[in-house]
Amino acid sequence: MLDITPITPDFVAEVRGLDLRQALPASLFAEVEAALNRYAVLVLPGQAVNEAQQLAFARCFGPLEVSLGPSLYNAGRPRRLDDAGLSDISNLDETGDLLGKQDLRRLINLSNQLWHTDSSFKRTPASVSILSAQEVVREGGETEFADMRAAWDALPPQQQARLEELVAEHDYFHSRALTGFDAISVPDEWKQRMPPVPQKLVRVHPGSGRKSLYLASHIKRLYGLDDAASRALLDELMSFATLPRFVHQHHWHVDDVVIWDNRCTMHRGRPFDESQRRAMRRATVMDSAPTVPENWRAPAASSHTRAAQDA
Ligand code: OGA
Ligand code: MN
Repeated sequence: MLDITPITPDFVAEVRGLDLRQALPASLFAEVEAALNRYAVLVLPGQAVNEAQQLAFARCFGPLEVSLGPSLYNAGRPRRLDDAGLSDISNLDETGDLLGKQDLRRLINLSNQLWHTDSSFKRTPASVSILSAQEVVREGGETEFADMRAAWDALPPQQQARLEELVAEHDYFHSRALTGFDAISVPDEWKQRMPPVPQKLVRVHPGSGRKSLYLASHIKRLYGLDDAASRALLDELMSFATLPRFVHQHHWHVDDVVIWDNRCTMHRGRPFDESQRRAMRRATVMDSAPTVPENWRAPAASSHTRAAQDA
């Protein structure tokens, strides 16, 4: 039996009573899955997993994503981590030294400090992420999580009805540009490999049946709205969904493993003194299907909102 300590009745729980260095019996994994379906974020202290053990545990949830680093912006270059299946969430280079201020890897990872959900810029996004901490900073560098089910539940019904119809355009380069990364001059090959993708704005979580907002700083616009209306609505939703009452902050300790469900939460890293070392690695599970069908077509901006803009 797992030892589960909820932080709030429905969001974030601490989980003890298992050892991720060993293969989990199916019954124990079922308990982890049930806990994740209910709490959306699980904190597992004292799990000193190596890369292979972390990946093996992640595979219990389904097929894994391949990290973008080795396949795209760091292609062919030596990496700090051995396995290309893991994302390097650190401020260290391949030799273990601090990254320079202008290092591409640092600039790309800075977007992790914006509210987001992992890989929503992929047609089939991430379902579950599993982050393991090797080196932590004493101050700052927390990770915050926001409950998108609670945010959805708190919206007035008329607004819920409107939002349920909407589809958002998620773009990897949009969130990079927001943190100062020069997304204009990236190689064409990157842009072709990472084109903008549509995602539903409201999702139903398969494990709980609960609806949630599906928001991220990767969202560039909402289809069917003109730019001004789209930006205004996105900003309003982002501010609302990240009000303190929906947010939990995790302060890291070495060997913490944190599991979160990207389908119904957002997260962001908090700033820290970058002369300090911070090293984590993430295994990421792929969702089972795109959130909008392959044959979906973008609607034109509505005449109503266009008229409002012309006025
Ligand atoms: C991530 C992420 C934030 C952090 O690993 O996906 O966004 O605090 N991390 O490092
Ligand atoms: Mn992330």
